[in-house]
Amino acid sequence: MPEADEREEKQFHPEIRTTPPTFFLKGASGYDWGMRNRLARIFDPESGHTVMLAFDHGYFQGPTSGLERIDLNILPIAGDADALMLTRGVLRSTIPADYQHGIVMRASGGPSVLKELSDERLALDIEDAARMNVHAVAVQVFVGGEHETQSVENMTRLIDAGYRVGIPVLGVTAVGKELTRDARYLSLATRICAELGAQLVKTYYVEEGFERVTAGCPVPIVMAGGKKLPELDALTMAWKAMDQGAAGVDMGRNIFQSPSPTAMIQAVRQVVHDGARPADAYELYRELSEKPGGRAP
Ligand code: R5P
Repeated sequence: MPEADEREEKQFHPEIRTTPPTFFLKGASGYDWGMRNRLARIFDPESGHTVMLAFDHGYFQGPTSGLERIDLNILPIAGDADALMLTRGVLRSTIPADYQHGIVMRASGGPSVLKELSDERLALDIEDAARMNVHAVAVQVFVGGEHETQSVENMTRLIDAGYRVGIPVLGVTAVGKELTRDARYLSLATRICAELGAQLVKTYYVEEGFERVTAGCPVPIVMAGGKKLPELDALTMAWKAMDQGAAGVDMGRNIFQSPSPTAMIQAVRQVVHDGARPADAYELYRELSEKPGGRAP
């Protein structure tokens, strides 16, 4: 039997007012604890930003250049990312279960590059996402695309399921070949995702008016990487996106198709977390890429 606690002097400190904990991410203060905790595994609470490494490309285009062997191409840099964006097949087959950073899991799919890409369905049960302990699930939304309504419904169903277990949803704005990628379109697409409940949105950077896209979206926006650019251009794009209100980047080909992915992800981190200017981050990239393994010893 535990003994009774009969001490007269208790340490309640009535003179100190209790301050409710605040949360660092835009739009996220009202979420349940579990959802905020998961978001804090994707975004670094210190900088408030994230470097996500995307390598889910195989779910519609098979073995993409640079991803032929995820064990060899990605595992060496997985620890440099704040979060990995991937499929459940790759998580279970290739990622060690003691991986400590965030996991953002692709949850839609169906058509391959040979077919109409907007014809996606949900491809992951939220129970399986919870079983794998993932920190967010991602779904493609094709605003203006052939299967627009279906893809929006995929997202809203996933958001409802996510709220049942505390897993946030990343809405990914997909831009079809026929759609203009400008601030007006991206404001529309990102706002639709946020209004319908996505807790995070991934979208492309545009030179004109990107700050209006981020300002008009009540939840964090992460910048999509897109096709491979020269390293300085990719770092410049990331810097501009961050300067104009992005909360992070979700980059794939611009990292894993670089001649030195290890050096490149360090340089991206410097931009995203430390606000390094593109020229300085590029200098770091060049320095590290000359070292064995792309890292400072
Ligand atoms: C976008 O549709 C998918 O999520 C991609 O597979 C991936 O995230 C794209 O990454 P990146 O364009 O940076 O190579």
